[in-house]
Amino acid sequence: MIEVRNLSKSYGSTKAVNDISLSIGKGELFGLLGPNGSGKTTMIKMLTGQIKPTSGYLRVHGVDVLEDPIRVRELVGVVPEQETPPSFLTAEEYLYFVAKIQKMENYEKTCEKWFEFLDFRDQKNSLCKDLSRGTRQKLMFAQAFLHEPELAIIDEPLINLDPILPDRDFAFHKPL
Ligand SMILES: Nc1ncnc2c1ncn2[C@@H]1O[C@H](COP(=O)(O)OP(=O)(O)OP(=O)(O)O)[C@@H](O)[C@H]1O
Ligand SMILES: [Mg+2]
Repeated sequence: MIEVRNLSKSYGSTKAVNDISLSIGKGELFGLLGPNGSGKTTMIKMLTGQIKPTSGYLRVHGVDVLEDPIRVRELVGVVPEQETPPSFLTAEEYLYFVAKIQKMENYEKTCEKWFEFLDFRDQKNSLCKDLSRGTRQKLMFAQAFLHEPELAIIDEPLINLDPILPDRDFAFHKPL
């Protein structure tokens, strides 16, 4: 799913990523750990086609990221480090917007499923600017997983979230 060879990125004189090579297969759960400023977000931005490497080779989901960054974004679910959902849309409008970009059909029920799973259906009609930080983060998770990608890339996966979601009888892959 991810093939990286001799990847480097410099911002001026700052070497953020220095000659990284790694290979991550389907079904693997890979954690990239490192102190603040060690280049994790820079690595993720390169993998998801948001910035170009200074040098090196990278393929994600079989796609050369430099050649077709848009295709990578279609295939991969991404929870970025910084971005939050647009303040002027409701949570539901935002998920519908993402579903349309991902060319999904009949997405209303799928969106509903995510609101239920992440336990904030009662706030789906709230403007994103009025959601708590953690709820906005849940919405970012929902947009990443909405189209059921085979690969998800999550920057700071635990930030702002409660350690436990309410237990619920929820079979995600059962038809609605
Ligand atoms: N746009 C930029 N311009 C210049 N320098 C940058 C830029 N983005 C990141 N850097 C620098 O690159 C280095 C790596 O930053 P990066 O954000 O990738 O680290 P990180 O491992 O994600 O850190 P954190 O754990 O704090 O999120 C840091 O020295 C940072 O200051
Ligand atoms: Mg970071």
